[in-house]
Amino acid sequence: MTVSTVAGTALSELKSAYDKDGYCPLPHRFDKASVELLRQRVAAISAQSRPEVVHEKGSDIVRAIHGCHEFDEVCAALVRHPVLVELAETLIGGPVYVYQFKVNLKQAREGAAWPWHQDFTFWSEEDGMSRPDAINFAIPLDDVHEDNGPLLVIPGSHDLGLFDLPDRSAQTGDWRQHVSNDLAYTVSAERAERMVEERGRTLILGGAGSLHAFHPSIVHSSSNNSSEDRRALLLITYNAVDNAPANPTRPSFLVGRDTTPVAARHDERLVLESA
Ligand code: SIN
Ligand code: MN
Repeated sequence: MTVSTVAGTALSELKSAYDKDGYCPLPHRFDKASVELLRQRVAAISAQSRPEVVHEKGSDIVRAIHGCHEFDEVCAALVRHPVLVELAETLIGGPVYVYQFKVNLKQAREGAAWPWHQDFTFWSEEDGMSRPDAINFAIPLDDVHEDNGPLLVIPGSHDLGLFDLPDRSAQTGDWRQHVSNDLAYTVSAERAERMVEERGRTLILGGAGSLHAFHPSIVHSSSNNSSEDRRALLLITYNAVDNAPANPTRPSFLVGRDTTPVAARHDERLVLESA
């Protein structure tokens, strides 16, 4: 069944789960043709030579592509999908704009890990975002299983503030350290282990096209891809319009500059079904 809006009751249940755990699966899935179209766009963009295309350290293997909604019309249509916009507005509580768009590719056998971290540390320290009133939607373009480097989250950790903030004098100002596996801001492995002992941990698994939301402050990581299967993960971050940083300096493909509310628009090529 095609879903054009989200029922009110389901939305309030989703919001309770999201507020409590800092992540939640969403009851929707992009159909096969939509996933195939997005994969084609990712392949075409990955082959381009442009700053938005980031490689694994010391290699020509593509690690991620950024800001695609600003130059690719299919990605531009995706961020306007009425269900995504409605979910973002409900879970954040107000009008939203696109803060970030990226696809982390995690190539088979080659895709490197993301250490434990909190996204809001980057956005507050580097961009001056005031509050974590933003939301990530994760849409895998490949089936995600335990061995191809799934996202791993610590439930409820979004409510505990930011951990292990760096000494400001240690900042390098190099945005590449925000997109490589040598991340500028991490949560220490010891702290994460202690939190996992208390709260447990959840692997975000799911088929291609599935949909999860996760909070900017949740402690999360993902391992190397040790399998023969690629794990491309498309991530859209919406931010509350009244939470837009005043003077961001990182490149616009990491920090969206167009802070006007996203205008929802249906595109018949991008079909969400009930999960
Ligand atoms: C990943 O692609 O596994 C990590 C994504 C993230 O940290 O947001
Ligand atoms: Mn992250």
